[in-house]
Amino acid sequence: MEWLADIDDEVGELPRAVLEVRGMISYEERALLHHLAAEVGDGAIVELGCFVGASTLALATGLAAQGAKGPVHAYDLLRFDEYGMGGYLDGLVEPVQGTDLVPLFKKHLGAYIDLVELHVGDVNRAPWDGPGIELLFIDIAKSWRTNRYITKTFFPWLVPGAVVVQQDLVHWEFPWVAMTMAALSDHFEPLGFVPFGSMVYRCTRPPTKDDADLDLRGMPLQQQLDLVSAEQDRIDERARPWLELAKANLYVHAGDQDLALSTIEKVEAAVGESVQWIEVGFQRLRERASALGQP
Ligand SMILES: C[S@@+](CC[C@H](N)C(=O)[O-])C[C@H]1O[C@@H](n2cnc3c(N)ncnc32)[C@H](O)[C@@H]1O
Repeated sequence: MEWLADIDDEVGELPRAVLEVRGMISYEERALLHHLAAEVGDGAIVELGCFVGASTLALATGLAAQGAKGPVHAYDLLRFDEYGMGGYLDGLVEPVQGTDLVPLFKKHLGAYIDLVELHVGDVNRAPWDGPGIELLFIDIAKSWRTNRYITKTFFPWLVPGAVVVQQDLVHWEFPWVAMTMAALSDHFEPLGFVPFGSMVYRCTRPPTKDDADLDLRGMPLQQQLDLVSAEQDRIDERARPWLELAKANLYVHAGDQDLALSTIEKVEAAVGESVQWIEVGFQRLRERASALGQP
């Protein structure tokens, strides 16, 4: 996978449709998924959080490039959510809470829809009973609960050498993702960081069902912070300030306003304006920390 270090050079090689489709992932992440699918063997491809198909199209075109039939197992609620989807779908769908996004997903996939098996609904109710998974893309771990469910359901099915892309890891909002990979560090080797938010791992030793059932939320705060620090030490330097900021979110979850605010301040002083978009994290976390003091 020597192309991973120069993934930005690969963007220009992508089919136009992959770049044009509306989505929440970067062009570099689309190139990553396309390449990974182009190299996948007989194992399953599972995509958790497909939204309206940007990541799915990157995977499906990669599969098609190697002449494989798939499918890509794509999971999502596929319902418009005015809070989580911001302006991403402006002009494409009726901005009404709950609008069905399946038609737009199918339109974006075009002829590649034949390479996709779509699983619509709450992923927290989705079973997986095999086959073994060779490529797992995760862009759905937006809560403690969902993160725990998908880890215990899908990780035990990873085959040795499988690739896992944790798209929510390099972010201020989802500390549980880094904690998961730190808790399972004996099973995964970091391969690289792909902006905007993806950490790529190789599964060296598949976790058992017991290994993968992690009660991260129930851990004492210090243990949670230590897990985030442990993953910070394993990953690309560029990704580390995001995880430092994710610790502020752990303080918010623990209800500690003072430590949340002082952590945000420290990260802000350390990075200034050198990290693109991190100021959104400063602002949102300050709002959440400030709200802790209110009745
Ligand atoms: C960041 S978006 C995915 C972006 C997508 N990978 C792309 O390329 O544009 C996260 C998705 O997770 C989905 N999601 C969040 N929680 C979910 C759940 N419990 N069950 C199913 N889907 C969920 C949302 O509907 C949303 O489409």
